[in-house]
Amino acid sequence: MLKLLQQTGRALLEPLRAILDRGFGPALNPLNFLGALTIYFFWIVTVSGIWLFIFFETSVIGAYESVEYLTHEQWYLGGLMRSLHRYASDAAIITLVLHIIKEFVYDRYRGMRWFSWVTGVPLLWLVIPLGITGYWLVWDQLAWYVALTSAELLDWLPIFSESMARNFLSSDVLSDRFFTLMAFMHLIGLPLFLVFGIWIHVLRINGPRINPPRMLMAVSLVAMIALSFVYPAFSQGEVDMTQVPESLGLDWYYLLVYPLLKVWSPAWVWGLLTGVSLLLCMVPWMPPQRPGSVAEVDLENCNGCARCADDCPFSAITMEQRSDGKAYDSEAVVDPSLCLTCGICVGSCPTATPFRRHSALSPGIDIPGLSAAVLRERVLEASERLQGSRRIIVFACQGSAKAAKINDPQTATLDVICAAQLPPPFLDFILSRKLADGVVMAGCAGGNCQYRFGAQWTEQRIARKRDPQLRKRVNADLIAQAWLEPWSGFRGTSAVVAALRDSMPGSAATDVEPSLPAVRGNPWKLPVLAAALALFAFIVGWLSVWPRFSLIGADEAMISVSLSHAGQRISECRKLSQEELNKLPPNMRKLDECPRERLPVKVTFTSNGNMLYQATLSPSGLWTDGESSAYQRLPVKAGMQQLFIGMVDSDRSEGFDYFLEENINLVPGQHLVVTFDGTVQEFVFKQE
Ligand code: HEM
Ligand code: SF4
Ligand code: SF4
Repeated sequence: MLKLLQQTGRALLEPLRAILDRGFGPALNPLNFLGALTIYFFWIVTVSGIWLFIFFETSVIGAYESVEYLTHEQWYLGGLMRSLHRYASDAAIITLVLHIIKEFVYDRYRGMRWFSWVTGVPLLWLVIPLGITGYWLVWDQLAWYVALTSAELLDWLPIFSESMARNFLSSDVLSDRFFTLMAFMHLIGLPLFLVFGIWIHVLRINGPRINPPRMLMAVSLVAMIALSFVYPAFSQGEVDMTQVPESLGLDWYYLLVYPLLKVWSPAWVWGLLTGVSLLLCMVPWMPPQRPGSVAEVDLENCNGCARCADDCPFSAITMEQRSDGKAYDSEAVVDPSLCLTCGICVGSCPTATPFRRHSALSPGIDIPGLSAAVLRERVLEASERLQGSRRIIVFACQGSAKAAKINDPQTATLDVICAAQLPPPFLDFILSRKLADGVVMAGCAGGNCQYRFGAQWTEQRIARKRDPQLRKRVNADLIAQAWLEPWSGFRGTSAVVAALRDSMPGSAATDVEPSLPAVRGNPWKLPVLAAALALFAFIVGWLSVWPRFSLIGADEAMISVSLSHAGQRISECRKLSQEELNKLPPNMRKLDECPRERLPVKVTFTSNGNMLYQATLSPSGLWTDGESSAYQRLPVKAGMQQLFIGMVDSDRSEGFDYFLEENINLVPGQHLVVTFDGTVQEFVFKQE
């Protein structure tokens, strides 16, 4: 099942990667920097947010007005910052979702990568509330909907004894303290946790890429600024709690689940969210698990040089104090739980040289499943069957192996786990011993290396910029590199092989050349780049307000039932006799003894005789001695309604202790609040 999902995901993602490669080139392909781009968009959000904060007023009246001021009076900077703040937040969700999809479809979440995967899940629980609290602060009609719906969701949790949603039903109840709380969470609390969370997320990755290339930063910023000017972000009208907005432009990146509350109860929504999160957390341990023999250190041959520890992309190797009494300071120790069997450490070990005699080819570190000795064996075998004067051996990594396998009389392809598994002395060995006339190192395109640094380390070793370097005596012109995406696999590798063969000295008389297309320039670069950025900006802006969402139908009004009332005590208070009083300590003496526990409160609400809401509300508190609360949002048909609400707070079985009946003409979009005024002990239908 997971495999099928991965294959489908790849089938969808790879054409996109291929298109983006045309515009950005593999070194700048945004799909290779999704985690880093997410962080970069958060930087834009932070900088623009600081500007907004300078002018923002954390009060019911001031919030909306201050944002309006920024948007309209100061459109050239404040308005731009507001739009950038919104669109960069939305863009971060796009890159974040693609980041999750990409790590999943390329199977980069297993083994030690489980840590990054699992620590990524709480980040979702920080990022989404961060966006939600942002929308809350604007205090426009969308903010009202967000506040009300968030409160309904939170009310389901056993955190608050009183209903939070009731605070957002009429303006006389709403207080500034909510704004202060929201501002604190949005500006300080959640961002701090997010920074900490991201730090943990990349903690176990050796050299995580947290910054995208500068060029990519620049073009993404330009796209966001262009979108901000072309389609600035606006508020959606001042809050009027007596009216329900006809429809709202919802930011689907952050508020995707909110409309579900129209049809589902909060319990189902929480169930969905926690279910998806738990499922995500379990994914790294789901089958199919890939068995693999982890790297093993052979102390006999380890000189403690630490190159393997430097090169391991997963920090699986530590250098520890020598344990075998040899004259070296340290020795390499592999943590099997972190090793992903990439073989890169074998490529970095100076003792992994095929010039040693066969029996002695046991490097300081090796992969038992595909050892350096086996690799040398395969090279010798391949050499024996190669013919012609321009023989080439291709080393293809697992990621590219399937696509890149070229086997003809003068070409042999050998599999390696990762291109960087091949120690540079092997290249020397092949060329100096004339086992082949040229070598091609084929692997995943830069930035998308399955083992993160395989392509990079190989390039640097061949360029003699990283140890172990290719020896100076080796003619590097006879070594070609083919860092290619899987879709260009066979064709791409063939083109590199052909180009290398063409560049070699020697007669072509005996060789059979495969007919290959010439490598052409890329006339599509600029148009694809511009189209990709425009499309990205369009998607960011589009889902940020479209499709619009209606809270209620066009011919409906909304009634909110919201009350809090303490039921009567379960039995009458009893006067204590003098004798009983005497037995009590003086400070605890009271005339009456009343039971603590209260009766549940029963509420019935009908319209034109039809039941709209009926509930038996349990008293709150540990001792069931607190108030009973009701909160329900009900869409009803507009028009003349005979509304009746009745409440029983005693143990009577018939009739009501309190009730109110009224004929009200509800107009479409009207919001009527039905509540109980505790001071006068009466029901109220609040219309204004
Ligand atoms: C705020 C949200 C997130 C940010 C900013 C973020 C950022 C990053 C960064 C910068 C890296 C290092 C990439 C590299 O060096 O190649 C990374 C790695 C990773 N992330 Fe995230 N991430 C986020 C959320 C998530 C989520 C939700 C998941 C999955 C549920 C996830 C899964 C992973 C995995 C598996 C890796 C390791 C990749 C590897 O080892 O090649 N991330 N993330
Ligand atoms: S095989 Fe790869 S992950 Fe394992 S220790 Fe070597 S470099 Fe690290
Ligand atoms: S690279 Fe080889 S010799 Fe150097 S510490 Fe690692 S295992 Fe030992």
